[in-house]
Amino acid sequence: MKKQPKFIAVTLQKGGIGKSTVALNLAAILSMKKRSKYSDYYNRVLIIDGDDNSTTSKHLGVYKESNKNLYDILVGNCNFDEAIYHYSFNYGPPYKKPFLIDIIPSFSGISELDVKNHFLDEPELLLRKAIMESDRIMDYDYVICDCPQEGVTALSNFYNICNKYLIVIKPDKQSTECIGTTLQNIGLLTTIQKENFYVGVLINNYQKTEIANNIVKKMQDSKYLYCFHTILPYSKDCPDTFEKNLTIPDYRKKTRKCKRLNVAFKKFTDEFLARLNEME
Ligand SMILES: Nc1ncnc2c1ncn2[C@@H]1O[C@H](COP(=O)(O)OP(=O)(O)OP(=O)(O)O)[C@@H](O)[C@H]1O
Ligand SMILES: [Mg+2]
Repeated sequence: MKKQPKFIAVTLQKGGIGKSTVALNLAAILSMKKRSKYSDYYNRVLIIDGDDNSTTSKHLGVYKESNKNLYDILVGNCNFDEAIYHYSFNYGPPYKKPFLIDIIPSFSGISELDVKNHFLDEPELLLRKAIMESDRIMDYDYVICDCPQEGVTALSNFYNICNKYLIVIKPDKQSTECIGTTLQNIGLLTTIQKENFYVGVLINNYQKTEIANNIVKKMQDSKYLYCFHTILPYSKDCPDTFEKNLTIPDYRKKTRKCKRLNVAFKKFTDEFLARLNEME
């Protein structure tokens, strides 16, 4: 029997630390992996873009005024499946076919949903209900949610569909201070009981400084939080992957740039999958 997809929230209550970069590239690398050792099929991955700036949707070229988006799903303008768009990237040999990522675009004014919230029935469960009526959700192995940094209604909708939470930080004081708030919000905004609750912290944008090294050490020695061993380094070419509408593996293949970050993303994805298996 086909398993339920794994719903993963990429989150931190702080902007500009790499949530969208991680959500997109984790999705891309997962889509380049087979479903299992014995499968001939590649993972099917859906990104739900909850970024107020629609970073991932714009990055993948699926952001258009006329397209349906997350807002339309939440307020009942369309059903879940009608807002799914496709992005494919042709990685070339040794792969014979292009890889596919599906995406539900975001919308601006996510925190304004909190005002509308009073007029909606169970506002924190709108996305969950829409997913329950979806004919296509079972096609996916992973649903990666690029969570907004604020907006209680939107965040609680994401937190209520996910049971795996990937917290992304930069190795600086401001990001680490936001981990507590984020964990608290995951607890406060989740009304659905969860099994296999899982939290891991991923350090992105690492540049060697004394402060960064201290934070890395503190996080990796923590007895309370799981911190991934793989650290994503700063890469000056990372913003250019956005400009060129490419995922990092694809960008690396086409330009030969971004080597260290691409290697680190692949290593992180393997570590992430091992961690998910451990949690089963
Ligand atoms: N490892 C990295 N090296 C260099 N630049 C990076 C790295 N990760 C992310 N960036 C850059 O940092 C900027 C912010 O990243 P991103 O949009 O992924 O963050 P975010 O947390 O999603 O932000 P927001 O809160 O606005 O949604 C982007 O220009 C991105 O290209
Ligand atoms: Mg973002």
